[in-house]
Amino acid sequence: MRSTPRPGAVSSTVRRGLVAAAVLAIGSTAAVATATSASAAVSCKVTYSASQWQGGMSANLTIQNLGDALSNWTLTFTFPNSGQKVAQGWSANWSQSGSNVSATALDWNKSLATGASTSLGFNGTWTSSNPSPTDFKINGVSCNGTPQSPSQSPSQSPSRSPSQSPSQSPSQSPSQSPSQSPSQSPSQSPSQSPSYSPPPPGTHVDNPYSGATGYVNPDWSRSASNEPGGSKIANTSTAVWLDRIAAISSGSAGQNSMGLRDHLDEAVRQDAANGSAPLTIQVVIYDLPNRDCSALASNGELKIANNGLARYKSEYIDVIAGIMADSKYSNLRIVTVIEPDSLPNLITNVSNFQACQEAQSSGAYVQGVQYALNKLHAIRNVYTYIDAAHHAWLGWDTNFGPVVNLFHQVASGTTAGVNSVDGFITNTANFAALSEPYFTINTSVNGQSVRQSKWVDWNYYVDEQTFAVGLRNALVAKGFPNTLGMLIDTSRNGWGGSARPTKASTSTNVDTFVNESRVDRRIHAGNWCNQSGAGMGERPRANPAAGLDAYVWIKPPGESDGASAQIPNDEGKGADPMCDPTYHGNSLNGNNLSGALAGAPLSGHWFSAQFQQLLANAYPPIS
Ligand code: BGC
Repeated sequence: MRSTPRPGAVSSTVRRGLVAAAVLAIGSTAAVATATSASAAVSCKVTYSASQWQGGMSANLTIQNLGDALSNWTLTFTFPNSGQKVAQGWSANWSQSGSNVSATALDWNKSLATGASTSLGFNGTWTSSNPSPTDFKINGVSCNGTPQSPSQSPSQSPSRSPSQSPSQSPSQSPSQSPSQSPSQSPSQSPSQSPSYSPPPPGTHVDNPYSGATGYVNPDWSRSASNEPGGSKIANTSTAVWLDRIAAISSGSAGQNSMGLRDHLDEAVRQDAANGSAPLTIQVVIYDLPNRDCSALASNGELKIANNGLARYKSEYIDVIAGIMADSKYSNLRIVTVIEPDSLPNLITNVSNFQACQEAQSSGAYVQGVQYALNKLHAIRNVYTYIDAAHHAWLGWDTNFGPVVNLFHQVASGTTAGVNSVDGFITNTANFAALSEPYFTINTSVNGQSVRQSKWVDWNYYVDEQTFAVGLRNALVAKGFPNTLGMLIDTSRNGWGGSARPTKASTSTNVDTFVNESRVDRRIHAGNWCNQSGAGMGERPRANPAAGLDAYVWIKPPGESDGASAQIPNDEGKGADPMCDPTYHGNSLNGNNLSGALAGAPLSGHWFSAQFQQLLANAYPPIS
């Protein structure tokens, strides 16, 4: 795939303030309380732990029933500060009125036997500070008494609460490194809570990454471990790409040999070996006719003019959906990433590229994506995330508004409407920094906004996390459900190593300031092929920030983005000048050098030198 930027027109509109999401500092607290009611035998303990960053938080709660069996429950508590808000919760129906928060049980977790526990949580926001709540109640009864039943353990005494003071939260400064963030990696078991109880297998949960283990793709893992030092990250969860019809049965491009059933069978095996945590496997749906219409590196096998849309439906999507619907796989959480770059190409590249023009006028991209959504959403344990390019493609208002409208129009045209979409993913196979730590879109230098710098080029976003959050807000405002979750591909956006700035520049020239301060070291934010200097980024993990379902590794690090010389192949792939380090670019990258590494193989094929650079320049570092 490729990722084509297209600067939009200059606009003088000042955009709303965005959450400064540069950091993921942890404020982990555990407020514990116990309670009994003399009349009703309700007795409970609630554990609350929150991670936080500037303006945002992600909280996990565990309710333990110490009293009689409950057939239904409602948890209530009060936020100590008026600026604290629940934005998006899971494993309960969440609501908030003023500072009072209420979470009512769902069908699958409403009965709680004596001694049983259930976990729930939410992502939220805060303003001045973020103290933990302490006044938990179940069905109106405070969880702060002593268990009355003789069977209840004396260890659940109120004496544990004073140490969990609300004041523990906001002290973590935003300047802490992202590496200090919670270890909710999909490749780790949900050890956050000792009494974690996942919903019944196969439940369609709000966030399929929450509390789950990530599938390790043996094909990628083997290639990674064969590289010097590669075994350090070879058990990271990466996506399976179905990049052509043949990949369904015998593996995607390059060194990959496992088909979809092989992967799902292996996922069932990994799931069983992992114990109680559910397993999440990620599959990229990537074979639309006229694929990658504005570039050459990842052109595909199907052509609109050759009956491509009909073949896409019957030989590709139907076959994939048929396999995923097999009851053998019903306990897996199958995440699908739907058609990287396709809908964004309809926003920016129709007038310049004949193949995109055809994709639009025939309706093939829209109908193909709708067909995929209908088939995949119909399978209860399959999750759908539509690709939404990245900030340096869609971050200008002239592109942002239209793509929000297009996403809404596409989803509205499916059988389940906007509910057929679980979320969106940004930065797939791209290199945009997750967060620029030394400036935001609101930074000015000597009276000039960073928006005026050549690097930012009037964009409204300077990094991926602010873009993903801003896009989610706009999509929800447009009519998508509030459960919508975002993913960010962090497989290659680490930008560590010796070239990484360690502080903000002191220059008073806005261009120099931005160039010296930015951690994204590309020559131009529109460069996308095998970028020199890049490193692996944040390791995959769930709930990294409000509105984000997970950081994920979708592009398997070490697989090439494309070749600059024509290499004979049966994958429909061409030679792309953007993969040639001597190419001076075009209007899409400001006629700059491409920044590509030399000597790359075809897209999807193993590129050892790139893997080694990504490992060496990882941020957070891999040691
Ligand atoms: C290629 C695919 C490959 C994927 C993951 C894409 O750019 O076109 O063939 O499977 O990257 O490496």
